Amino acid sequence: MIIRSRIIGCGAYLPERVITNAELAEQVDTTNAWIIERTGILERHVAATGELTSDLATQAAKRALAAAGLTAVALDMIILATATPDHTFPATAAKVQSQLGMKRGAAFDIQAVCSGFIYALTVADQFIRNAQAHTVLVIGAETFSRLLDWTDRNTCILFGDGAGAVVLRAEPGVGDSQDNGILSAHIHTDGRYYDLLYVDGGPSSGRSTGFLRMIGKDVFRYAIVHLANMVGEALTANHLTLADIDWLVPHQANRRILDGTARKLGLPADKVIITVAHHANTSAASIPLALNEGVADRRIRPGHLVLLEAMGGGFTWGACLVRI
Ligand code: COA
Repeated sequence: MIIRSRIIGCGAYLPERVITNAELAEQVDTTNAWIIERTGILERHVAATGELTSDLATQAAKRALAAAGLTAVALDMIILATATPDHTFPATAAKVQSQLGMKRGAAFDIQAVCSGFIYALTVADQFIRNAQAHTVLVIGAETFSRLLDWTDRNTCILFGDGAGAVVLRAEPGVGDSQDNGILSAHIHTDGRYYDLLYVDGGPSSGRSTGFLRMIGKDVFRYAIVHLANMVGEALTANHLTLADIDWLVPHQANRRILDGTARKLGLPADKVIITVAHHANTSAASIPLALNEGVADRRIRPGHLVLLEAMGGGFTWGACLVRI
């Protein structure tokens, strides 16, 4: 018998304020048609003044706990993936822990930008498999609106704010691909590409928060290659084929990246959960937001094989193959 990390509840939260492409076109030299054609994005949610990453994370966490039928007392650990913490320190996860009323266990942040949720799931899975934690809350939460140069049309159109969460619980498995839970997790980094997608500020650089900077074309090219390769890596590790996958839940950066990845793989478009039109790119929050949507509208059902995958700044990339 081996221990598997099973997803027993999902939750999500989006800030109330929605910014349409038409509104952005009043601020920068762009059009609704250009944004839709190049990105597939129609609108994005943006946190209100004073609404912090921890607030978004706490709302998503409460919903995931409710879906799991648990309270925070049951948790051994909180892992929060974010590149937009409330403060440089302490970890935003510590504030979420306190807002949830959890007084024991451990809470910490993980930073792998858009791949953050995959990294956080991977770490949580290690603790659960090693029997060092039984029930773990994994959150992806971001307020990327605070990192954007709202005068830069190349970047400000692409991102949004939001949060998503899952509760993982240890369950016995037999060790084959029919088990429920995380079947395998895969993470990668290649720091040679650090400068293609980064924020030009931060405590050690001596400048304050800074703005997101990106060479969009290069990011686009690498994203399709890495995302397609990840699918092969996860399937091979589990002796499965593309036909076994019920749903691909990718990081939602750009509709053209999602379509390009599906095309490169030969995966039918109706097996991909896509939320980018209404959420834009919410970095570490995008996968749990998309997963929650697929579970809530019952496209994703118990027993389905779901591949979660992401690519982001660093470059970082990774995938988790999960049977729901
Ligand atoms: N509205 C109108 N025109 C815009 C624009 C906007 N919002 N943003 C850029 N342009 C212009 C550029 O200035 C450029 O004009 P020029 O030819 O006069 O110099 C032209 O459009 C083409 O720009 P380019 O960067 O070549 O466009 P693109 O087809 O590569 O699309 C992105 C740009 C950003 C949409 C695309 O590169 C992309 O999606 N990259 C990946 C970004 C991403 O997902 N990052 C996060 C990964 S986690």
